[in-house]
Amino acid sequence: MKRLLCFLALTLAAILAGCGKPDFSDAEKKTIASLALNTLPLLKPDTTNRFADVPAAAALGSTLFFDVGMSRDGAVSCSTCHKIDRQFQDDLPQAVGVGRTNRRTMPLAGVARDPWFFWDGRRDSLWAQALTPLENPLEQAGNRAAYAHYIKARFGERFERIFGPLPDFSGIPLNASPLGTDAEKAAWNAMSDAQRDAVNRVYANIGKAIAAFERSIEPAQTRFDRFALDLFTGAEPKDGAAFSREEILGLKLFIGKANCVTCHNGPRFTDNGFHNTGVPPVAGLPPDRGRIDAVAQAEADPFNCFGAYRDGDVSACGELRFMVKDAPELIRAYKTPSLRGAATRPPYMHAGQFSSLDEVVAHYAKAAPSVEGVSEIHPLQLSDRERAALVAFLKTLSE
Ligand code: HEC
Ligand code: HEC
Repeated sequence: MKRLLCFLALTLAAILAGCGKPDFSDAEKKTIASLALNTLPLLKPDTTNRFADVPAAAALGSTLFFDVGMSRDGAVSCSTCHKIDRQFQDDLPQAVGVGRTNRRTMPLAGVARDPWFFWDGRRDSLWAQALTPLENPLEQAGNRAAYAHYIKARFGERFERIFGPLPDFSGIPLNASPLGTDAEKAAWNAMSDAQRDAVNRVYANIGKAIAAFERSIEPAQTRFDRFALDLFTGAEPKDGAAFSREEILGLKLFIGKANCVTCHNGPRFTDNGFHNTGVPPVAGLPPDRGRIDAVAQAEADPFNCFGAYRDGDVSACGELRFMVKDAPELIRAYKTPSLRGAATRPPYMHAGQFSSLDEVVAHYAKAAPSVEGVSEIHPLQLSDRERAALVAFLKTLSE
């Protein structure tokens, strides 16, 4: 009798824990398969950066990524905000470098696969992106002439072994940039075309080395991926891979009624696109219109794919050439973030508007209109149980 009771208690515990056998339609199974990490294609070569897969360039890029010497005040590096032990982000609603910025630090796993960079996509390559925080007065706040001198003094031989001989910098001012302070701009304008080009070339190569390093930052396998694999091979779920009833419900909602997968799709849970999802602005921050204002910036960037510092030929520039330039849906549209690892790195959205996944799900269910432009999100009828299930599913992408 005692044994029987024990057995019943254990069975009840198992039921309560909800180790339900998944029951998916073929269409659902297909979608689930498309989200699994094993479908992530190999990283494509970046022909605009011929150092992208050169190990010595990646090693130098890694040194530069963590080097606080790469800033005006000697106190900020890429890793100040992109922290290696925090998924390359900083857990803040808005990043803080030399000053306080108006956006949240983006995590970097798998970023080398993206066509556009930043929340608004104002840069079109990983190496051009890296040059932006280096000169942003709120981030690293330096100037390209100072960086060129610093590289020569600190890493001269190592740099030359990768990129070839450095030019003669004797006539080049210590501080000069087309984007800097008034004095730096004046110094830049006083330089010859050849000097400006020489500095820009060193500067572009700094970006190319950093990008080579960033290409190694890839998303890791999660419990969801193990679950998806078992679903396909028909294997009994291995340790910890089994989903609870709640997680299965969350997954079904994610790919079904809640429509999340229309934008958060593929093995990185992003369509690489820009969408207005009605995320409200943060009081006190400068106006932020997202993608619509980034188009002109991407076109004007001298380090973009059409510029003089691209390696390889112009056939690599399809994204820039065919960029959607002026459409109402670009107003307050932001890049769809990957959801891998999201559960363990609040806050959320481009300026840290939401502090928990519960708030994110509530935002989608409510679908408040956008302050400007039109939100693509439609209200959802979700019970409390369904909201909790969606959150439970999202957590499986972090374990
Ligand atoms: C002050 C904090 C800070 C520093 C320093 C910083 N970043 Fe960032 N990073 C951010 C923020 C904030 C964003 C998003 C900014 C935006 O959208 O305007 C971002 C975006 C990015 C992105 C785009 C990711 C994506 O998915 O589009 C990459 C790549 C990146 N940073 C790499 C770097 C590198 C490389 C450095 C150093 C050269 C660097 N960052 C320095 C805060 C920082
Ligand atoms: C129309 C496209 C679209 C749909 C549908 C959509 N998302 Fe998003 N999602 C985005 C965009 C774009 C952002 C970034 C918005 C911003 O920062 O302003 C985002 C941000 C997020 C974030 C925050 C991630 C981070 O790192 O900040 C989470 C979590 C999220 N979505 C989950 C969901 C869930 C769950 C659903 C379904 C209920 C869903 N999304 C539906 C496009 C979409």
